[in-house]
Amino acid sequence: MKINVYDSPLTTCRSLIEYIIERLSNHPDKVFNIAFSGGDTPLLMFDLWANEFADATPWERIRFFWVDERCVRPESIESNYGQMKRVLLDVVNIPGENIFRIRGEENPVYEAARYSDVVMRELPVIDGCPVFDIVLLGVGTDGHTSSIFPGQEHLLSSSHVYEASVHPSSGQKRVAMTGFPIFKARQVIFLVTGKNKAQVVDELFLRGDVTPATYIARRAQKVELFLDKAAAGERE
Ligand code: 6PG
Repeated sequence: MKINVYDSPLTTCRSLIEYIIERLSNHPDKVFNIAFSGGDTPLLMFDLWANEFADATPWERIRFFWVDERCVRPESIESNYGQMKRVLLDVVNIPGENIFRIRGEENPVYEAARYSDVVMRELPVIDGCPVFDIVLLGVGTDGHTSSIFPGQEHLLSSSHVYEASVHPSSGQKRVAMTGFPIFKARQVIFLVTGKNKAQVVDELFLRGDVTPATYIARRAQKVELFLDKAAAGERE
């Protein structure tokens, strides 16, 4: 697990974008299948990407998938796709055929099955599992990642690619990437910023499989953390 710590959320997000662009430039003939998480943390990254790196990014070589989605309409402020659409997808020149959204407006069980089929069709498959080049994860203050919440650990060992899940406090229905494709991904990147994440970041290093995020961080291949100092606590 490689740890990168930066001064602020801004420099953390900027460094992550630069890292992804470097990966693209190191593989000029490759199209990258990247699954993005939602929530607040990556919004700064998407906004920065649109405003500072639009011309530096070969958008035609990135195919956009989602790690998870809230079961709301795409226009909702809650929608992970809708949020990225507002700040990035509608701002830069990304080919429409490169965008594979989870349809949050559909029945979650059916949509989890549909989207699993889409990902199986669009990605290379190894040992029955679709292989993403990068899965970009966040971590909730309760240690959830994707929309795999504490108490829903069965999603970590599911043989399905996506499954329906539920936010334990709000009851909001979700479609979530399971542990199956996360563990098989060529690279898993955690983007975690803010003092309120210091505890869950600490758990990534010190404790056992206390949360879905720690379970994944300890088992996924090639895990890299992009943290700001506030989330990294005293760990430099
Ligand atoms: C979601 C995300 C989720 C997110 C964490 C952290 O749909 O909410 O995919 O897994 O990464 O909840 O969210 P914040 O960045 O808002 O803290």
